[in-house]
Amino acid sequence: MRFSDQFLDEIRQRLPITQVVGEHVIWDKRKSQPGKGDMWACCPFHGEKSPSFHADDRRGIYHCFGCGVSGDHFRFLTEKAGMSFPEAVEKLAGMAGVPMPARDERQEKREAERRSLLDVMELATKYFEAALSHNIGARARGYLLERGVSAQSQTRFRIGFAPDSRNGLKEHLAANGVSAQDMIDTGLVASREDDPLTYDRFRNRVMFPITDFRGRVIAFGGRAMSADVPAKYLNSPETELFSKRRTLYNGQTARQAARDGSTIIVVEGYLDVIAAVAAGFEGAVAPLGTAMTEEHLQMLWQMTPDPVLCFDGDKAGLKAAERAADLVMPHLKPGYTVRIATLPEGLDPDDLIKAQGRGAFADVIDRARSLSDVIWSMETGGLVPETPEARAALQARLRERANGIGDSSVRFHYAQAFDEKLRAFLAPVRQNRFEPRGGQPRYGQSGAYGYPSRGTPRLVVSDTLRNSRLLKPGSVAEATPREAAIILSLVNHPALVEDKFEILAALDFDTPVAQKVMSEILSLVVRHHDISADDLKAALGVRGHGPALDRMSDVLNRQGVWQIASEIALVDAETGLSHALALHNKKVQLNRELKAAEAALGEDPSEETFERLRDIKNQITTVDGTEALIEGFGSLSGRATRSF
Ligand code: UTP
Ligand code: MN
Repeated sequence: MRFSDQFLDEIRQRLPITQVVGEHVIWDKRKSQPGKGDMWACCPFHGEKSPSFHADDRRGIYHCFGCGVSGDHFRFLTEKAGMSFPEAVEKLAGMAGVPMPARDERQEKREAERRSLLDVMELATKYFEAALSHNIGARARGYLLERGVSAQSQTRFRIGFAPDSRNGLKEHLAANGVSAQDMIDTGLVASREDDPLTYDRFRNRVMFPITDFRGRVIAFGGRAMSADVPAKYLNSPETELFSKRRTLYNGQTARQAARDGSTIIVVEGYLDVIAAVAAGFEGAVAPLGTAMTEEHLQMLWQMTPDPVLCFDGDKAGLKAAERAADLVMPHLKPGYTVRIATLPEGLDPDDLIKAQGRGAFADVIDRARSLSDVIWSMETGGLVPETPEARAALQARLRERANGIGDSSVRFHYAQAFDEKLRAFLAPVRQNRFEPRGGQPRYGQSGAYGYPSRGTPRLVVSDTLRNSRLLKPGSVAEATPREAAIILSLVNHPALVEDKFEILAALDFDTPVAQKVMSEILSLVVRHHDISADDLKAALGVRGHGPALDRMSDVLNRQGVWQIASEIALVDAETGLSHALALHNKKVQLNRELKAAEAALGEDPSEETFERLRDIKNQITTVDGTEALIEGFGSLSGRATRSF
């Protein structure tokens, strides 16, 4: 009896190979990492004293670096235990808890049918390939050339052309003895409800064959060559061979590439995969006309423990990333996760590679963020809330997220990581400013902010005075980080100036340098609508502000938090700017209140005025601390500001 690939794969998937091998070897404790399914032993196939036999659950294979044997679960039992293949299957199915398929004729008939359907798909693939290279394929060849798909890529992906004919393929298949039923069952022909006559489904389209993990064509995607055609891409329907939930474009190549160390990257479309592979990212795959499914995720995890999911930098991309995170969370297991990369706004990987080269795409992938970071950003919205109620709500949401994880160990670590992160972010950040003499401040402890619990309010005031930027003449030469962030984000995205003109015009900066540059920016934008970032920089340079801008960049680089360069997506800059402005206004207002409170304390050193001063100062600490939390800039562009 022939076992289906699906059945055998299910056994491989469910049963760690180390468990199979483990019944025949003694693992080497020093070299093995059971948590990772990465185990070593002395080779059971040849005599040795030091362990060079390796079993790897991630890849589901064993290999001996001494004698060179290797194989999967089934091979191990047939070669080591001398079982026949069906015997090995039966034993392994039992270990894996996968029921043996009933030995029935229907099933075997179905297998035979599948094989004949695969043959039909192969015939069709060859037919489309031939049409592409034929005269009638001239326009399609022109289209591919224009899209930058090289002849080499065309061959590699077996790209073809479906001629503009209702029955070209149909007749070709019939001439090769393909039955009408097989044509329907492969989805290559279609018919309308009111008319039994079938016709070619794909007409006048560039054809992308879709293969299974063994490289056999199971479906097609057909791209229209002009924009006025109803469906840009037409895909094969679900058939006996093709389930789009379980298929990844380029899956076969990517799986092999992952073994050779390539990163698995999930992109959106056919041409993204093709451009990525041509640029050397052989691990690129795409779902087909559907968002990523749970099945896709499991398939990805069979290739690599941490595939990178790549999303657009626009709002839709952000939504898609959130949906993907929702999909992945419940299925996380120890060692397995996803990373999330964000493309520059408006460019898909194909566009990006064409416009800026492979390095730009490599950067995007390198900057992929961990899933926990992305969840954190999703829940905080880039800003940790200030009121206790809002903080409690945030904590509850993070807990709920963590609780959605199925695996208890991953769940525990997520909950712990979120808690730690929350604590770190809510604690006063500028320890050096408010550190009590002779001890580390502890959050929530009385006197933690450097105040003796009672008395000596004079000391407090002088501390406050020393730390207050308003009263500190030495500190005004350089813009504050927040000011620098606001100004540089505007310089890099001048469009934001018009958006927020009123607010910006009313802004009250602490430092003269920031004030000056700001008013210059406003007047330049008023005079030159739609001024570009480069022109604005040049104009500021001419007016002598170049060095000030450079210093502002330095300030931000030193902080290591803010990222405002022009390649940052506009939505990032916008979010970051809004947060910075909100914080700025809050701080300005608090500083005013602080001054008033200090004056009041001078006149009336009572408990009440002291408490008032202390409260304002705590709020300032929070705002200053929050400054380091703004994740808006860069976070959406794939630049983690902080990670666990
Ligand atoms: P996009 O619309 O983002 O197109 O669809 P694209 O991949 O950038 O394609 P080009 O560059 O315009 O040729 C992304 C993917 O969604 C599926 C296809 O798999 C496509 O590659 N899709 C899109 C469809 O299945 N049908 C459609 O009509 C459009
Ligand atoms: Mn595209």
